[in-house]
Parts: sequence; structure tokens; C-alpha cells
Amino acid sequence: MSGFFAPRLDRIKHSPSNAAGQMVRELRAQGRDVIGLTIGEPDFPTPDNVKRAAAEAMARDETRYTTVDGTEELKEAVRRKFKRENNLDFAPGEVTVACGAKQIIYNAMMATLSEGDEVLIPVPAWVSYLDMTLVADGIPKPLECNEASGFKLTADRLDAAITPRTKWLMLNSPSNPTGAVYSRAELAALSEVLLRHRHVWVLSDDIYEHLLFDGREYATIAEVEPALRERTLTVNGVSKVYAMTGWRIGYAGAPAALIRNMAKLQSQSTSNPCSISQAAALEALTGPQDLVSERALELQRRRDVIVPMLNAARGLTCSTPGGAFYAFFNCAGVLGKTAPNGREVATERDFALYLIENGVAGIEGAAYGVSPYIRFSFAIDIATLTEAGARVQQACAALS
Ligand SMILES: Cc1ncc(COP(=O)(O)O)c(C=O)c1O
Repeated sequence: MSGFFAPRLDRIKHSPSNAAGQMVRELRAQGRDVIGLTIGEPDFPTPDNVKRAAAEAMARDETRYTTVDGTEELKEAVRRKFKRENNLDFAPGEVTVACGAKQIIYNAMMATLSEGDEVLIPVPAWVSYLDMTLVADGIPKPLECNEASGFKLTADRLDAAITPRTKWLMLNSPSNPTGAVYSRAELAALSEVLLRHRHVWVLSDDIYEHLLFDGREYATIAEVEPALRERTLTVNGVSKVYAMTGWRIGYAGAPAALIRNMAKLQSQSTSNPCSISQAAALEALTGPQDLVSERALELQRRRDVIVPMLNAARGLTCSTPGGAFYAFFNCAGVLGKTAPNGREVATERDFALYLIENGVAGIEGAAYGVSPYIRFSFAIDIATLTEAGARVQQACAALS
């Protein structure tokens, strides 16, 4: 079959979280007791009012094709959401709906990148930015942001990385995998650089927007610097905040020309996102919102269980995430040690495998562009999380 598959496939890989999730399922099928902390989705159910709205849409036979990039009602709700929560005014032709934030980002890359165009990706980052850039013929430029800077991009770093071929800067706050949250002042500092480089667009991935801890306030770059609005794609979706990962609805706001071209592309791939899911997303965005803050508080409680446990494990350090539901911990302190079975834990991967042998699965930092780290998702109940923390502590204590 050599020559049959397109060379672009050689540039990309399967999503590491999907692969890790599959490994956990396989180990469990073999009867192994493994706590899976690999999955990037909340364990909460989709809210009842949202499920009801979907059932009602089905009963009304809203089961046909809709406008390619979303029903008028849903796009109107998206516009109102951006106004209400982000103080962003979008005209009717400036918002779009797709099958998840993932398709929005994919559409944007495919619609704008030409061979040789560069995409700046502050890392650690969600791996898909890199692969989607590659599949769209672009060149990903990872900008490593170390732990000392809170895993965040600084203005100097950004300024130094911009070239005439830079097309996009990816921003993601709260971040997957670090939980880092950019403050208004930090976004203002980045904006100042971007205002001097008029050819650079910003993709602001706000998918974890409401999952914020310790009373933080949310800020998105097009709101912080309105002059950037004409070259910002503000991406969001219902997956994480409303526990609707399987429904596949993401949305975005941007200048009309970009929105139009993204919809053109979508018209030749998926067409409209599922009509029933759109009715559900409409209810999520327009119905009662109190569950959102309750769930964020519950995630904060879980963070406050797992992060101290990781810091108490010998050789590990974990900075405190300000949002999302991931603990991204440094495992440099365990490398070079020896496991009870005599095997050396030489690399991040060895340690990840050692943890799995001890009943806890996470994802290696390399999947997000930095080592030596492991990402745990703490979107799981407190009893299981506590057990996972205890297993990690025991496993670390057993290394010599
Ligand atoms: C940073 C980030 N952006 C986007 C997505 C995709 O979300 P959706 O389910 O809307 O496609 C994810 C999902 O893991 C994510 O972590």
C-alpha cells in the first residue's frame, strides 16, 4: 500500500490522550486495577435541562440539515454569550458553529495556512495545535514557557519569535495541560507586541473559560485589546464547561471573511454539526448557568486534594493550576532512581510506565512539548483521586 496514503499523514500522530485512554481500557480488560487520569473531559453528566432540550428537538423532528455553520438561533445565542460574558460584539456574519472547538481550529488552519506559514505555539500546549498546523502545511514554532514563568508566554519571548512568515499565535487560557491562566495585565503585555506586528493573527482558545479557581476573573485577548479584534479568532465550546464532550459543538467569533471561509471549508467536510446537539447547545448557552460555578468549585476541591498529595510524593513537584482540570507535575526528582524490580527509572516515559504498574495512568509531558512532566486529569471523584494520590506516593517512596 506504500504510496497510497498521503504524505501529510506522516507528519501527524494520533491524539496521545486518546491513545492513553485506550491503553487504560486494555489494561482493565486484562483485569488490571488502573486508575485512569488520562481523559480530557469532566466526569459530570450533561445537565438535565440540556438533555431535555435535545429530546424535545427530536420530538419536534428537528432532524434535518441546518445551515452549514449553525442554526440562526444558536448563532444568535453565541453572539449573546460573547456580549454577556466577554464584552465582545459580533455581527451575525461574525460567528460560526462547528463539530467541536477542534473542528473550528482545524477549519481555521486549513482556511489560512500556506506552505511555510508559521504558527507560534507556547508550550506546554494541547498537542492538536501542532498537528493541525502540520496537516495544513504550516510550520509549528513551539515557544517553550518554563515553570518559573508559570508556563506562560512573555512579551519579550513573543516579540523575539515573530518573523515575516508568522501567521498565528495560539493562546489557551486556562491551559491544557498546565491550568495556567493569563491575567488581564499579561494579555495586555502580549497585545502590545501584537499591535506592532500587524500581520499576526491570534487564536484564543477559551474552551476552559468557566473552569476557574480561587475567584479568578476571566479575560480574553480581543476584549483586553479591542484593536486586536480584527485579527483574532475567539474559540469556545460547550464540551468542557457543560460536560458535553460527546455532543460535539464548538463555536467562534472572528471577522466575517475568516468566518465565511471556515464555513466554506465545513460545507465540503461535515456540513452542519448534528441538529440535535445544536438544540442542546442552545439550551446550554441560554438556560440556567448556576451549575457552571458549582462544578468549577467542585473541580477546585479536587485540585486541592491531588496537588498537595503530588507535592508530598518524594521527587515530585506540582505547581497549582488556576483553572481547567489538570495537574501537570514535574518528575525530574525521580529520574535516575531504581524501582523495586531493579529497573531504572531513567526517563519520563519510564516513570509514566512505572506509575501504570502501580495502578495510576497519566500522560507524559512530551505529548505537550516539555519533559520531564506527567499530566493527570483530576476530573474524577475525590475518593478515587485520593486513592490515586496514595498510590503515587507509595510508588515514589519505593524508588531508591
Ligand atoms: C485546549 C483544548 N482546546 C480544544 C479542545 C477541543 O474541544 P472540543 O470538544 O470542543 O472539540 C480541547 C479538548 O481536549 C482542549 O483541551
